[in-house]
Amino acid sequence: MEFARFFILLCFVTTTVCIKASSSPPGLPSLREGSSLAVLDKQNEAFLVSPNGTFSAAFREVGINAFCFSIWFTNSADKTIVWMANRNTPVSGKKSRMTLHKNGNMVLTDAFGSIVWSTNTFSASAVEARVLDTGNLVLFDQAKKMVIWESFDFPTDTLLPLQPLVKNTTLVSMRSKGTSLNGIYNLKFDDNNVLNLIYNGPQISSIYWPRQPGGDVFDLGRTPYNSSRVAILDEFGRFLSSDLMEFRASDYGFGPKRRLTLDYDGILRLYSLDESTGLWDISWLPGRIDSCLVDGLCGEYGICSYKNVKPACICPFGFERNDLSDWSKGCRPSFNLSHDSNMSTFMRLHHTDYYGYDLETIRFEAPFEQCRNSCLTDSRCRGFGYSFDGKGMCFPKSQLVNGYQMPDSQSVIYIKVPKKIVSSPTGTVNATAEGLSCSGAEVFLANNDAKGEKRDKNGYVKYLVAFVGSFGVIEVICLGLWWWFIYRKRVNEEVINMGYIAVAMGFKRFTYKELKRATKNFKEEVGKGGFGSVYKGTLEDGRVVAVKRLEGILQGNSEFWAEVSVIGNINHRNLVKLWGFCAEDEHKLLVYDYVENSSLDKFLFSASPPTLGLEQRYKIAVGTAKGLSYLHEECLEWVLHCDVKPQNILLDDQLEPKVADFGMSKLFKDVTHDVGFSRVRGTRGYLAPEWMMNMKIDAKADVYSYGIVLLELVSGKCVSDFLSAVAQDNEFNHLVQWMTKKIQQEGLKEVIDPRIPDNELDMMKVERLVNVALSCVQDDRHSRPAMSKVVELLLETDE
Ligand SMILES: *[C@@H]1O[C@H](CO)[C@@H](O)[C@H](O)[C@H]1NC(C)=O
Ligand SMILES: *[C@@H]1O[C@H](CO)[C@@H](O)[C@H](O)[C@H]1NC(C)=O
Ligand SMILES: *[C@@H]1O[C@H](CO)[C@@H](O)[C@H](O)[C@H]1NC(C)=O
Ligand SMILES: *[C@@H]1O[C@H](CO)[C@@H](O)[C@H](O)[C@H]1NC(C)=O
Ligand SMILES: *[C@@H]1O[C@H](CO)[C@@H](O)[C@H](O)[C@H]1NC(C)=O
Ligand SMILES: *[C@@H]1O[C@H](CO)[C@@H](O)[C@H](O)[C@H]1NC(C)=O
Repeated sequence: MEFARFFILLCFVTTTVCIKASSSPPGLPSLREGSSLAVLDKQNEAFLVSPNGTFSAAFREVGINAFCFSIWFTNSADKTIVWMANRNTPVSGKKSRMTLHKNGNMVLTDAFGSIVWSTNTFSASAVEARVLDTGNLVLFDQAKKMVIWESFDFPTDTLLPLQPLVKNTTLVSMRSKGTSLNGIYNLKFDDNNVLNLIYNGPQISSIYWPRQPGGDVFDLGRTPYNSSRVAILDEFGRFLSSDLMEFRASDYGFGPKRRLTLDYDGILRLYSLDESTGLWDISWLPGRIDSCLVDGLCGEYGICSYKNVKPACICPFGFERNDLSDWSKGCRPSFNLSHDSNMSTFMRLHHTDYYGYDLETIRFEAPFEQCRNSCLTDSRCRGFGYSFDGKGMCFPKSQLVNGYQMPDSQSVIYIKVPKKIVSSPTGTVNATAEGLSCSGAEVFLANNDAKGEKRDKNGYVKYLVAFVGSFGVIEVICLGLWWWFIYRKRVNEEVINMGYIAVAMGFKRFTYKELKRATKNFKEEVGKGGFGSVYKGTLEDGRVVAVKRLEGILQGNSEFWAEVSVIGNINHRNLVKLWGFCAEDEHKLLVYDYVENSSLDKFLFSASPPTLGLEQRYKIAVGTAKGLSYLHEECLEWVLHCDVKPQNILLDDQLEPKVADFGMSKLFKDVTHDVGFSRVRGTRGYLAPEWMMNMKIDAKADVYSYGIVLLELVSGKCVSDFLSAVAQDNEFNHLVQWMTKKIQQEGLKEVIDPRIPDNELDMMKVERLVNVALSCVQDDRHSRPAMSKVVELLLETDE
């Protein structure tokens, strides 16, 4: 018995040991003539390994049952591939082999025995294949003691230290993350001996780096005169090219393992391996380049823009995506372009440019009208760029590609469209792509699941990494489909309802000095909120503005402006318009439209308030609901207000409500917790119960607060009066309870604000308001209506 047990134990131990041993197959120093490597499906099959183990080579899976013969960094966490033999022609797992034939030719064959790739070498004497510690796979002729073939001559998307990039070699990006196929970006020397990043699209190609705005390569410290065309990264992390382009890794020095990779987003990055984690740090990026300036990213008509600091493609208003899975295919008009100049007009996009493809009618110092007409009457012209910087630069364009949007940019683009889609008497329409992005015509290119790369503290690098590290194709497709449904539906609505479209007026970055001057050194404080004080000011052009000085912003300048530009692009008549911002280190300010008539709380709760009739209150209820509904639903539900209360509902001279202070949750989001909000924000009394329960906050929290505001509008009573007086058990509901009880016991009439003139009392409307309000303040957020439903309910009585 004891023996049997011992025997079983022994078997167990030996099998475990065997499994352990076989789970790391032997690395071969070289592949000899007549032998071959197969796909690593069985555990005891071998791979090549460099003498000190830095690199390995064998088949790697690049898709479902799709394999490429690859070389990779043995010790990087995701076993980063640096070279592939059959990049565009993966083979299946079964029977595919890499064989070194007796004649000195190394051949990759697929399951059917057909040749997929070969070195095309020949040698009468003995040859062996080895991976060197540099990552170079070489065929070594042992008799001649020389290398007859090396993978360094045929780079894919990565250049390793000591691997020269020469005249006839090109780095080609991957098409997307997770596929091995050739992409659309190249790094190579052009005919002028200058090293370039090139967008090599199906129809067009263009150089996007270095981009010389009107200047020449000399301005960039480069030269076209050295025709040797060779560039190399040395072991210390210094890159030197014959055109005098030079850079050093940020961790310059001998030691770190590095790679220079042209990533699938078109950006060239130098990475250094952190051996302790196996993750890559970015140790160099080209200056003057960022994701949106990479050509071809968003295709024809597509515009690259930043949202949440991540680049995303959007289609301009009236345009839809060509291919939901591939942004590089761009957008197509959802209308027929007309060649008849009498039928065409222009749609304006601020802070936007489409790079390149200028017609020869390009002009300097052209008056705007002349520029516009030259494009209108030229059937080749799809649109034009005009810079309002006083120089009158006019760029009529035959193609609208390489679009990008920067809040800082002075450039304005005019896209030619048929008159009927913009139904505006004046011709040119002020539309923004941004405002339109709110209509759902956009999909993130990236989200935040950077794998294999270590995050950098620098926000800029961080988003670039996030951009590389993530390209959820499925996700893009899903979002795309979603967008498809929403947007298809919306196009028609929006065309008719042009009033809704953003009427863009320069969203601007102000300097601190400018704002200091405008507010006379922050003299006249007109309000104070949780996020800072608000000052009245007058801009140079005479516009009266409200300047809000934000306190406690943790974000860096670039992150801040990315968030702010998103808020700035929200345009709705019931939302206070953001004109611009200032971000100079600790100075973070927002510049709003100044709304004349102060806020709703002054009308309801001040000592001697002006009278508000029922009709006016109703209008305020509807307008506020419309504004919030726009934030929640038409902007992809990403803007929650989180602090809806009468103080944040401003009234203009027509008593039209304008919701203020939205988007603050974006600027003040807890940077350490990406999801949700970690601390309660908002104002007691207006807070939905889920805030207290530490539950996820969604748009229904705003609905609750809105409901409370409605109750206040009807009753004229302030929710906070109830908070202080009575016991604390269910404090948020006290106005609610008071209302319901009073209505039950004494009737609806008893809860109406006595200040509402009797002759105005329309009980239908009062009832409607109260019913909507009570449905909004239900404890169960799922029972509360969405803001759009609220608008619907309130407008029903109008019919
Ligand atoms: C292996 O050799 C390469 C090239 O000589 C060197 O850069 C690297 O540091 C070596 N790695 C180890 C683990 O010794
Ligand atoms: C580039 O040229 C060199 C020398 O002429 C040659 O050895 C190499 O195979 C060529 N590489 C490619 C990718 O054609
Ligand atoms: C051209 O570039 C190569 C490689 O950087 C360098 O060795 C050579 O000296 C340069 N020639 C001239 C004329 O500058
Ligand atoms: C565009 O023109 C085609 C054919 O001329 C027509 O079938 C189609 O309905 C038109 N589309 C629109 C949106 O007007
Ligand atoms: C456009 O309108 C003008 C004036 O109304 C007219 O003279 C011209 O012939 C029209 N052009 C076309 C192409 O219809
Ligand atoms: C469009 O913008 C221009 C300049 O900002 C302005 O003068 C014009 O009134 C705007 N048009 C409309 C319809 O708002």
